[in-house]
Amino acid sequence: VMDTRTRRTSSNSTVKVSRQSRSGINGQMKLFVSEGNPHCLKVLAAVEVTGVHCEAQYVSHEEKVVPFLSRPALPALLLPNGQHLFSSNAICRYMFEVSGVESTELCNQWLEWEATDLQPALLQALHMTVLQGKGSEVSKVIQGPLNYLVQSLSKINTPYLTGEAVSVADVVLWAALYPILLDSGRFDVGDLWFDRVNGMHACQTAAQKVLQGKGHECMKSYMQRQPAPQISQCRDMQPSNSTPAEADEGERLVSEEEIEAAALTWNKGLSPQATERKHPILPQEGKRNILLTSALPYVNNVPHLGNIIGCVLSADVFSRYGRLRGWNLLFVCGTDEYGTATENKAREEGLTPQQICDKYHAVHSSIYKWFQIDFDFFGRTTTEKQTEIAQDIFWRLHKNDFLVEDTVEQLCCENCKRFLADRFVEGICPHCSYPEARGDQCDKCGRLINAVELKARQVMELIPVVILLHNSLFPFGLESQLEQWLDKSTSGGDWTPNAKQITRSWLRDGLKPRCITRDLHWGTPVPHPDFKEKVFYVWFDAPIGYLSITANYTDKWEKWWKNPQQVELYNFMAKDNVPFHSVVFPCSLLGAQDNYTLVNHLVATEYLNYEDTKFSKSRGVGVFGDMAKDTGIPSDVWRFYLLYVRPEGQDSAFSWADMAMKNNSELLNNLGNFINRAGMFVMKFFEGCVPVMDLQHEDKRLLALVGWELQQYIQLMDKVKIRDALKHILNISRHGNQYIQVNEPWKKIKGGDTERQRAGTVTGVSVNIACLLSVMLLPYMPTVSQTIRDQLNAPQSCINTMLQGTGTFVCALSAGHRVGTVSPLFQKLEADQIEALKKKFGGQQKTAQNAASAQPVTVPVPAAAEVTTVNGVDSEKAKQLTQAVAEQGDKVRALKAQKAEKAVITAEVAKLLDLKKQLAVAEGKSPEPAPQKSKKK
Ligand SMILES: *[C@@H]1O[C@H](CO)[C@@H](O)[C@H](O)[C@H]1NC(C)=O
Ligand SMILES: *[C@@H]1O[C@H](CO)[C@@H](O)[C@H](O)[C@H]1NC(C)=O
Ligand SMILES: *[C@@H]1O[C@H](CO)[C@@H](O)[C@H](O)[C@H]1NC(C)=O
Ligand SMILES: *[C@@H]1O[C@H](CO)[C@@H](O)[C@H](O)[C@H]1NC(C)=O
Repeated sequence: VMDTRTRRTSSNSTVKVSRQSRSGINGQMKLFVSEGNPHCLKVLAAVEVTGVHCEAQYVSHEEKVVPFLSRPALPALLLPNGQHLFSSNAICRYMFEVSGVESTELCNQWLEWEATDLQPALLQALHMTVLQGKGSEVSKVIQGPLNYLVQSLSKINTPYLTGEAVSVADVVLWAALYPILLDSGRFDVGDLWFDRVNGMHACQTAAQKVLQGKGHECMKSYMQRQPAPQISQCRDMQPSNSTPAEADEGERLVSEEEIEAAALTWNKGLSPQATERKHPILPQEGKRNILLTSALPYVNNVPHLGNIIGCVLSADVFSRYGRLRGWNLLFVCGTDEYGTATENKAREEGLTPQQICDKYHAVHSSIYKWFQIDFDFFGRTTTEKQTEIAQDIFWRLHKNDFLVEDTVEQLCCENCKRFLADRFVEGICPHCSYPEARGDQCDKCGRLINAVELKARQVMELIPVVILLHNSLFPFGLESQLEQWLDKSTSGGDWTPNAKQITRSWLRDGLKPRCITRDLHWGTPVPHPDFKEKVFYVWFDAPIGYLSITANYTDKWEKWWKNPQQVELYNFMAKDNVPFHSVVFPCSLLGAQDNYTLVNHLVATEYLNYEDTKFSKSRGVGVFGDMAKDTGIPSDVWRFYLLYVRPEGQDSAFSWADMAMKNNSELLNNLGNFINRAGMFVMKFFEGCVPVMDLQHEDKRLLALVGWELQQYIQLMDKVKIRDALKHILNISRHGNQYIQVNEPWKKIKGGDTERQRAGTVTGVSVNIACLLSVMLLPYMPTVSQTIRDQLNAPQSCINTMLQGTGTFVCALSAGHRVGTVSPLFQKLEADQIEALKKKFGGQQKTAQNAASAQPVTVPVPAAAEVTTVNGVDSEKAKQLTQAVAEQGDKVRALKAQKAEKAVITAEVAKLLDLKKQLAVAEGKSPEPAPQKSKKK
């Protein structure tokens, strides 16, 4: 009778018999069931059908009936000897055996099939029907097992599955299918078998007991407590190698242990530790000391969005995150100001180079300020310190014999007898034949080029060019030191794969000596008497800017820059800058032999394109830093979108339509909607005070889910996976929206005491999640983060949630906490507004006039239609749409059943799909991903 094997069945029960013995049960059996639990239907039907005398006791879903199990397991049967059965199929079989009917081999086969093949599909179908309002789609998941059943039934010619009389197999299968088939008869379960069993009075009685005549509604609270079912293999969208922890909709199964741990953590309280920033920030003993740089922008190029995301914005997010982690961190950057380009610009504008630098340095500063880039110091390279440090490094290289004198060819303008800025010479790359290579570097293959090597050279201003020879200095002989250091740094630090790969290909080509001087005036003078007229070439000079800028910030700059034991250096940049930071600059520092801090973590982004083309100032294509604020879109929203499409691992594109979509679907409908609802409930239903929270299993499960997302966020952020980490923030608010949707606090608040308390718990948990989200958002959207914390009147200590280890989700707003004034965080980005912006920045007009330009730029104009369908979230709307989807689904099925004309069906299916899309949006889920833009290149 008693099956002592341990076998996984589909649901929450394991076939295992309690060995614990209890006395004084009087030879009575007792069956524990809960209302709305579909597994209880089986056992009650078995009791009714067999007529076995057994008292049934109704308990809550949470009741832990079986003493040695840490989780509830219902139904459960307490046997006369004090042991328990808690697999529903085992209980059914036991009932039949008590009534004198042994189960046959055939019976057992059906039970086995039910548990292993049918149940997983049914659970998923129930989840979809009861919780997701997707009843019309369940055939996808259960058609497979149903087909098997129908076929088997067609082969037997007895009224019941295993013979002339009803058996345990009939009862178990009927009871399993009943909840799915109950309101529709949607599926043809073949034969008369189902109707025959269904028509039995005993079965109908059992159904009435479990579902109370309330149908699916009655199962809701039970289903909410179940982990989301795993997607079965018949769902074609699921990759077959997905890990078992992934479940439907990306939702994760959490174990009971995680749930308990999350509930314990919740009550821990936050550490009060202050993380105040005091300048000058210097390395501290016992702290993680992080020096963070972002590539120095060249002063007279106004940065475009691609520059911003690649360098300063990424570095800013990481430094804000680092401060939340309690790291002792210094973030420096500044403008790179020397060079021919500045000299030329000065001539053009009739100013001195210094005036040009002053002017553009201010432009950069104001752009970064608008983007809320929180530098500890934003300096410039045209300082005394630069001269001092660059010359010192030069003399050390010289003294250590790493410099050699040689002669190089350089392009010179015939008219004005000036050398040309390499950057302004274009031609075909001698290595990869890319036609738009620049005289200093090829944007395609990343190799450094000598301008004279370009094939089919064109000078941008088309001045006659001659080649001149002149003397210069080159470093050499540092290969082996460099390689040794690289091995160590790349294996111990977080280098992005592109950084490693670009560096490797550089080393493979062999290090060639490079000229470190140029014949200009606007630069750091070369101190050597033989090179008096020359200045340092920008590649040698500019990275030294990191040191000199720090030196302008603090006299104790060497505590950061000559302290590799204590300091970790992060360099942020776009990939074209990699070789300077991984090969060229480290060579200077290694050769100087002065105990310099070298890069530990080299973080390089790929390229951000603009609507599938390149940003181009000269062609007027793209959004440049100074224009972003003119769009009227808040800086936080810009940051959000740029970080959402951060070219992490591959190139990505800025697209207006996509930005509007993300603005409306993710920010407004998902994140903003959740945070606003949570706060509004506190204001409206609880007079602005966080209500008492009495955590149920379901709430604890949510805490565990949120805690897990927080841990993923931290793991990714620690590895500078900024874009990936953002997705976990959005998933937390998705969980939160779903939680509110399922629990309907706005309804429960009108109910009795228990219901009101439930509304209180749900509200309290939600508003705490909102508080956590504000902290996780801080690196990405600093203003919004602050606004949320102001609205919630959150204690300062809430930002300490990530100080330790993997972070903890604790109750930061406890019962009685008074929130501030809650109001919506985001506004909708309207379609016509987006159209106007796209026209303004698309560069189309310019292109039209420049028909003769060598490289016509076509700016694709993706339809903005998808934007217009995005609606504000509201549960009323979602409900109407759910209804509409169900009705449209019925209509489609009816048409199919009538074998209507294909065109008619297709049209109705299209309507259905559209309704579903609208529903997804109304529910705050992101709609179908926008169609992938085809990649150039
Ligand atoms: C976030 O949720 C979505 C939809 O529920 C899912 O597809 C995705 O995999 C989840 N992402 C992460 C990073 O967990
Ligand atoms: C750097 O420091 C010098 C003097 O210490 C000061 O005159 C100069 O303005 C500073 N430059 C910047 C860019 O902060
Ligand atoms: C380099 O600096 C560290 C302090 O960070 C010091 O302990 C070490 O001795 C120095 N090494 C050399 C070679 O100067
Ligand atoms: C979308 O952009 C508009 C700019 O028109 C802005 O006002 C709004 O706040 C943005 N929406 C979201 C959700 O951030």
